[in-house]
Amino acid sequence: MENERKKTVFSGIQPSGNLTVGNYLGALRNFSEFTDKYNCLYCVVDQHAITVRQQPAELRRRTYEVLALYIACGLDPEQSILYVQSHVPQHAQLAWVLDCYTMFGELSRMTQFKDKSAKNENNINAGLFTYPVLMAADILLYQTDLVPIGEDQKQHLELTRDIAARFNAVYSDTFVIPEPYMKSGAKIYSLAEPTKKMSKSDQNENAVVRILDPKDTIIKKFRRAVTDSETEVRRAEGKEGISNLMTIYSCFTGKKDEEIEAEFKGVGYGEFKTAVGEACAAELEPIQKRYNEILSDKSYLESVMKNNAEKASYLARKTLSKVYRKVGFTTL
Ligand code: TRP
Repeated sequence: MENERKKTVFSGIQPSGNLTVGNYLGALRNFSEFTDKYNCLYCVVDQHAITVRQQPAELRRRTYEVLALYIACGLDPEQSILYVQSHVPQHAQLAWVLDCYTMFGELSRMTQFKDKSAKNENNINAGLFTYPVLMAADILLYQTDLVPIGEDQKQHLELTRDIAARFNAVYSDTFVIPEPYMKSGAKIYSLAEPTKKMSKSDQNENAVVRILDPKDTIIKKFRRAVTDSETEVRRAEGKEGISNLMTIYSCFTGKKDEEIEAEFKGVGYGEFKTAVGEACAAELEPIQKRYNEILSDKSYLESVMKNNAEKASYLARKTLSKVYRKVGFTTL
């Protein structure tokens, strides 16, 4: 057997809002799939979060919460590196170097930048603009092979690949070129406007189901979900609301569209919506229970943060010093 390098998976979640079922199905739930075969790093990206204004106390609280949620969703902090971005200074250090290998034009084309600038007209700061470069640094710092992400981050990953390839072309191989990993069919839409992504910062609480919502809230929100004037549960154009609920139901039950259509034939939307809520709540309940236990033990979470920041930093230093040498910085 040849000596194959164990591959690396990296992903991050911003502690910038209460996570939704969309974050859960699109990202979090899939993270544990990789832990046996890959070296995994899952980061709480607090530095990304401050590209839009945050309440300091809330940002701090949410950082603990996302870490607790990682663990509650089945990630083992002894096996995977679960850590906080700002605890590992190499992210920001590499980001600066990569800023100098990323073009203004490239960043101007990022659709998330355009969307977020439109939403935060009074705070279109430089960090919001260079956000994708910090994300590239996150990924490239660990010689990542695979990046589980939602659809909306695909463009940022493509940019990451371009930056890495550009750097490699100038200085010889330095970075592994990462591949995206996207779970098909797991894009979850708003319950109120089912053509829009379910977003944790949505102002309308009925549009989003949160991972930590209690069971009766979950069911109530699904029951209020916007649908259409027909009565048939089937996936079709013009039936975005029902299609979205079918996706969610399918994710929680493993059932295919045909099975779902057969199961709810002739019963109307009400019963279907309740079933989606029940299936969702059933999976989230044990996670919520573990989460509450973990979150109440702050010193445990702090020890996880500390140990894992050290592990991440050890790996990050290797890449950063290679980069510093290649660009011509002097070393002491
Ligand atoms: N930009 C990602 C998001 O908003 C979060 C993120 C930051 C990330 N760094 C990352 C995701 C690195 C994957 C890999 O969802």
